[in-house]
Amino acid sequence: MNRKISLVIPAYKEKDNIEPLVTRLSAALAGYQFEIVIMDDNSRDGSEELVQSLSAQFPVKIIVRRDKKGLASAVVDGFEHAASDIIVVMDADLQHPPEVVPSLVEAIYQGADVAIGSRYIEGGGCEGWGVVRRIISKGAAFISHMFLPSTRKIKDPMSGFFVIKREVVKDAKLNPSGFKILLEILMLGKWKSAVEVPFMFVTRSRGESKLNAKQQLDYLKHIYSLMQRTGELVRLIKFCIVGGSGVIVNLGLYALLTRYAGFTSIADISAGILSGNIALTISIETSIITNFILNNFFTFSDRNAGGIVSFFKRLLNFNLICLIGALIQIGITNLFAVVIGLHDIISVLIGIVVAFLWNYLLNNFLTWKK
Ligand code: GDD
Ligand code: MN
Repeated sequence: MNRKISLVIPAYKEKDNIEPLVTRLSAALAGYQFEIVIMDDNSRDGSEELVQSLSAQFPVKIIVRRDKKGLASAVVDGFEHAASDIIVVMDADLQHPPEVVPSLVEAIYQGADVAIGSRYIEGGGCEGWGVVRRIISKGAAFISHMFLPSTRKIKDPMSGFFVIKREVVKDAKLNPSGFKILLEILMLGKWKSAVEVPFMFVTRSRGESKLNAKQQLDYLKHIYSLMQRTGELVRLIKFCIVGGSGVIVNLGLYALLTRYAGFTSIADISAGILSGNIALTISIETSIITNFILNNFFTFSDRNAGGIVSFFKRLLNFNLICLIGALIQIGITNLFAVVIGLHDIISVLIGIVVAFLWNYLLNNFLTWKK
């Protein structure tokens, strides 16, 4: 592998940051062979002329796209304009300290396919962030971990500061939209090892942020689109179908036991409550087991490796999670029907939705670990 590095830097109206960026990068990368590719989206603020003049002294060029297509797309286009096999992606506004680049690059030299500048591991952080911003950001990471399994091992999958080997994205069908290009790469790129290197996301001292409420909402759309493109949405639908089959097993077995196998109906109080409840318990447990088997070989067929021991471990896990799910469902239904006073059928429905999400996410996360 060629050790030369290309830095792809999306920039929109960052003229005041470009010169300090280029000088600090050049100092930090003194021992390396590198080029800086600034991907500008028609800022028309003098960035172009400035880079032209800097290029006499530094290995820097600017690519100006006349139609502005956004941050993520600028990064992906930048890959085409970068000459090296090691590609650094970072912001132009100096919130990503240039001095951290060498440690990221070294992680690649040591064998990582992806090296991520991380705010959320020991030693990293966000300068001057209030509680609300911190919660939003952590919440965003949590959503990604829940719904996009390949991002789970990464504490900061929304970072805009990272290094990849070109092979990672060479054949990837990236559909860059929004701000979170790393998510796209982690989900669709070809990589085995990713390491995180801590850094402090410092406050912007010049220019303005382009991240707004719309981009924050687009994040959810992006997650959904990635679920669609990577098969995670199909998985969710399969889980629903299996859940539906469980309802049939549960109801059907209860009916069989109480109508044909001598158990009494729960409603028949004169016969005592024991017999009917045994029938109910047997049918609930049976449906949990059939759900487990179907999910194991259908919904999560790509994650069911291991022998008989891990099969039973998973079954136990699934059982416990579903049990807690049932308790949650009872709690939520009571909350809405009794405490809030909503219609009982609607309350049961809300309980079902919450329990479904609980079962799906927890089992996805714990029982069939990626
Ligand atoms: N070419 C191009 N086109 N560049 C853009 C565009 C655009 O439409 N929009 C923003 N940029 C550039 C900015 O000039 C800056 O260099 C970088 O992308 C990040 O934009 P900011 O507006 O400074 O975003 P931020 O600091 O709020 O967000 C950063 O941190 C997030 C984590 O909190 C980005 O790195 C995000 O990717 C990251 O998730
Ligand atoms: Mn910024």
